[in-house]
Amino acid sequence: MNVITKTVSLLLAAASFAQAQPAPVVRVNVNQPVADIQPTMWGVFFEDINFGADGGIYAELVKNRSFEFFKPLMGWTVRGKKRTEGDILVQNRAESGTSSESQSNNPRYIRVSANSANAGDLELINEGFRGMGIKNGLRYDFALMYRVQSGNVKLHADLLDAKGQPIGSGTLTPEKTDGQWHKQQISFKSSATEPKGKLKVWFEGTGVVDLDMISLFPEDTWKGRPGGMRADMVQMLADMKPGFVRFPGGCIVEGHDLTQRYQWKKTLGAPEDRQLVINRWNFEFGHRPTPDYFQTFGLGFLEYFQLCEDIGAEPLPILNCGMACQFNTAELVPLDQLDPYVQDAIDLIEFANADVTTKWGKVRADLGHPKPFNLKVLGVGNENWGPQYIERLAIFQKAIKAKYPNMRLVCSSGTDPDGERFDFLNGKLRAMNADLIDEHYYRRPEWFLQNVKRYDTYPRNGSKVFAGEWAAQSDKTVSVNNKNNWLCALNEAAFMTGLERNAAVVQMASYAPLFANADAWQWTPDLIWVDNLRVYGTPNYYVQKLYSVNKGTHVLTMTQNNEPLAGQDSLYASAAWDKAAGEIILKVANVSDKVQVRQIQLDGTKKLDPTGKLFLLKNDNLNAVNSFENATNVSPVEQPISVDTKKKYVTMTLAPKSFSVVRIKAMM
Ligand code: AHR
Repeated sequence: MNVITKTVSLLLAAASFAQAQPAPVVRVNVNQPVADIQPTMWGVFFEDINFGADGGIYAELVKNRSFEFFKPLMGWTVRGKKRTEGDILVQNRAESGTSSESQSNNPRYIRVSANSANAGDLELINEGFRGMGIKNGLRYDFALMYRVQSGNVKLHADLLDAKGQPIGSGTLTPEKTDGQWHKQQISFKSSATEPKGKLKVWFEGTGVVDLDMISLFPEDTWKGRPGGMRADMVQMLADMKPGFVRFPGGCIVEGHDLTQRYQWKKTLGAPEDRQLVINRWNFEFGHRPTPDYFQTFGLGFLEYFQLCEDIGAEPLPILNCGMACQFNTAELVPLDQLDPYVQDAIDLIEFANADVTTKWGKVRADLGHPKPFNLKVLGVGNENWGPQYIERLAIFQKAIKAKYPNMRLVCSSGTDPDGERFDFLNGKLRAMNADLIDEHYYRRPEWFLQNVKRYDTYPRNGSKVFAGEWAAQSDKTVSVNNKNNWLCALNEAAFMTGLERNAAVVQMASYAPLFANADAWQWTPDLIWVDNLRVYGTPNYYVQKLYSVNKGTHVLTMTQNNEPLAGQDSLYASAAWDKAAGEIILKVANVSDKVQVRQIQLDGTKKLDPTGKLFLLKNDNLNAVNSFENATNVSPVEQPISVDTKKKYVTMTLAPKSFSVVRIKAMM
């Protein structure tokens, strides 16, 4: 018997069983909501890990465009038949000593001395981020900064396919020869699709020209913004309708040491002024080294805020609290020197929210966004712990609340959801009346079932929970063998019924990490995988999306024998009311390997639509995964479901190893 036949016969058997015996009754009190569900409930966690930003959502195709990587020509190959000694030199303005030249944020550039006529005489090839994704017929914008020193040199930009053949080209003739730096751009179209393309720059003429910020962007960025983001990746987020976007991480907020911490003010303005730092994921894992991983900050704070606005998500920036990563250097800023860090937080609120007459509101307006971003919540520290964190947090809390009493602060409970460090922080944070406590759990799949009642006993008053980073690990944390398989996703779906049921306590939740480049990742599992041209959502993505687009506004009780369905018969369930849509939303995970039938009694309703919608996510194979080739292997299927409008119930026939979401229009 094949799998489909087997499933159909099991369902038929279950249906006839259902006719023979009444199904156990599960009661939903539709007219008695027990808690609000915050609009922020389900969100996303973004970090520049796994080439998530540079080499990922930031659509720049040239790697090391500014020659600021530790090895200034990393990513570039210089070659040619007519090479001469010193024809390509790396120069450093910061070292030049002349104040007119000093550019401390982006000191390096290259000096090209050309005496060439043809491609092949002197060429610079950029390999991109594990190649460049090039699309047939699409426009590409090639831009750079130049300074003509002498002579006449034209620049040719060729897109190359994997075999090195041109698939698009343009010519840039420097317009100004006044010996100053200028920006110039040309555009041209590609004549082929190539996932592993390259960019070749070659020179025609004789002379000397300085070059910096050599850049290539596709036309089809998100909303067509020049220098913007990969539209296919943003679309995956937009489709989730996330309640918030947490940015920019993660450990990169803390930095390996304090010099490499994330500093939002350095991510604003012209890309050439944004000082690059080494990405801590470059060298963090000896088993997954990524020596070409740097943060250019082309995707900076303005762009993050803009992204949130575009997709209707609340911005949730996380700032360094005066502590570097405690797994790395654990550097601390002395308490009497914390002011600049606190000021960064105060200024960020002004940048996000204040009117254009203020210092930082004006900066926002000058950058093209006079309208405030309406920031309501801000994180202080990422995975920081110990009394040193509490001391620093207290200083932030006092200063921020004095100026912005309504700003809610996300506070760290460390790296783990239990243990001494967690208990210490949780106790202290609650005593400090922390607004939101950020809990992280990277745990085995079974942990998620065992902890479905975790929040049932949390205090209803006082601090709320932000389940800020979590994902079921099919192997173990930081193992390269972790898979985004259906087992993990299904157990996460079951666990999330416990989050929803406890929305009075848990006000925000996000899976982590978000993106991974299949050719350059450090950490797995991840919600969404990409290569240079493609993107796919994992089974975990579809679980997150089902929750997020079926959020509801109020928690309803959903009980069998007066108990929440939280593991009985391997069923996990929650219910919500969506006030705006006037719909009941039921979520049920059946983690068992048998069909189970439940009669869901919708108490307190006056009228029900006879047909609801069922979104069914299931797979018989718990090891099933999605892939570029089979992107929707595990993905939801929508089908109608009948409602008994007289007796006010819906019968759910729950397939083995399935997650079902049902929406039914109702009047009360
Ligand atoms: O999500 C990956 C990493 O896990 C984050 O950077 C960090 O906060 C956590 O340890």
